[in-house]
Amino acid sequence: VSTGGTEQVQAAGGKLQWGSPEMLEDPFPFYEEARRTTPVCPIRNGEVHLVTRREDIEFLLLNPDLFSVQGRVPIRSFPGQRYPTLPDLTMIDPPAHKALRGAYLTLLSPRRVEAMRPEVAKKAHALIDVFQDEPEIELISALADPLPTWFMGHLLGVDESMHEQLRDWANAYFELLDSARYATVEWEQKASQLKETYVDFMNFCGDLVTEWRADPPDGPIGEFALSRDADGELYPVDVLASQVRLLISGSQTTIHAIAQAVVDAITLGWDKLSDDKYIQRLIEESIRHDGPSTYLPRIPLKDVELSGTKIKAGTKLFISVQSGNRDEDYFERPETLDLERENLRRHIGFGMGIHLCIGAPTARMEATEALKALASRFRRIALSPQNDFKHRIDLTGMRMLKRLQVELEAG
Ligand code: HEM
Repeated sequence: VSTGGTEQVQAAGGKLQWGSPEMLEDPFPFYEEARRTTPVCPIRNGEVHLVTRREDIEFLLLNPDLFSVQGRVPIRSFPGQRYPTLPDLTMIDPPAHKALRGAYLTLLSPRRVEAMRPEVAKKAHALIDVFQDEPEIELISALADPLPTWFMGHLLGVDESMHEQLRDWANAYFELLDSARYATVEWEQKASQLKETYVDFMNFCGDLVTEWRADPPDGPIGEFALSRDADGELYPVDVLASQVRLLISGSQTTIHAIAQAVVDAITLGWDKLSDDKYIQRLIEESIRHDGPSTYLPRIPLKDVELSGTKIKAGTKLFISVQSGNRDEDYFERPETLDLERENLRRHIGFGMGIHLCIGAPTARMEATEALKALASRFRRIALSPQNDFKHRIDLTGMRMLKRLQVELEAG
């Protein structure tokens, strides 16, 4: 942040320096300072500007004709890919965006998601069966990760033996995206190791769509495979392959949402979880307070002014979701978990506007069923003193707890 200079950065132990390990681990002090002093904050030698105030963020997200998502990340294909990398829904502007979003809804409409609720609850209980007698467990690998991983595999009709592979591909893909975003030598080296994995991932997604096309299954998968663009043309297999890539990768975000909601539930009192309405409020507030999504890239198509800063057309902007969700002009005492806030659901953890997360009903449903299942099986869950609450800070498009060790008391 420009005002404080090096001394301030040092005094804050690196927390006020964008991209430092300390800042990535705990980004909130940086954003608080940025909102106050440099609301549109240049980073990466001025190549990118971070947008940190809620008011500016809303302006960007609600004006998709002015702020494009095209070119938000480089689109690269690698040798061996049988289906080229194409833009996914998050990278497509109006008017093409609308019809493609409709294709996703065949799989993920709130009604369809609701219909899967009993199966998700059953799966959550089956995962808990495995560890219910343990005194202590690492909850991400035991529940928060396998539940969303199973859900997406199941939704796409992928054999259960492949589900973990899907998760691993998704993780590698996020790291590859990061490497493109940060474009340092270090990241480039890492990227070379990730490319082969990405080729396998894309080939899997494309083969899946090819199979569906050859023999469309009854129900949502068949409808998705046969969806059409605004001119009534069937989407090419290549186009749908890149959407399957987004579905598999996007669903991973829920892992963090579940893990963080458990931490917040414990912090606020495990015994309060008996009420479904409480659980729903908890999940919303948890996503506002410390949700997984970090930056939403946008590119202005015209010159604009944001909080007094002139921005030229074509400048790369990163919307900081975490900053918008902690803006003190919008949320009172933003650093506090407060389930009674009036504007509880008005967070931007799932974005806003035409690109609002299409998986939000899914994520909410999975997190609710995970918490309900835990609450019904354990009288008490406590945070183990072993936790260091470190995050996966290599995933700068997302920030996720690495481990969550909890003590269990069945009942
Ligand atoms: C708590 C979990 C989740 C969070 C925090 C989250 C966050 C987000 C955010 C912030 C956006 C907006 C991107 C932008 O405006 O640039 C988004 C879009 C999207 N998300 Fe999620 N997501 C979650 C779960 C999911 C799940 C479970 C799925 C798939 C089942 C999914 C699929 C998508 C898709 C397809 C889009 C693109 C929508 C569009 O561009 O129209 N997400 N998500």
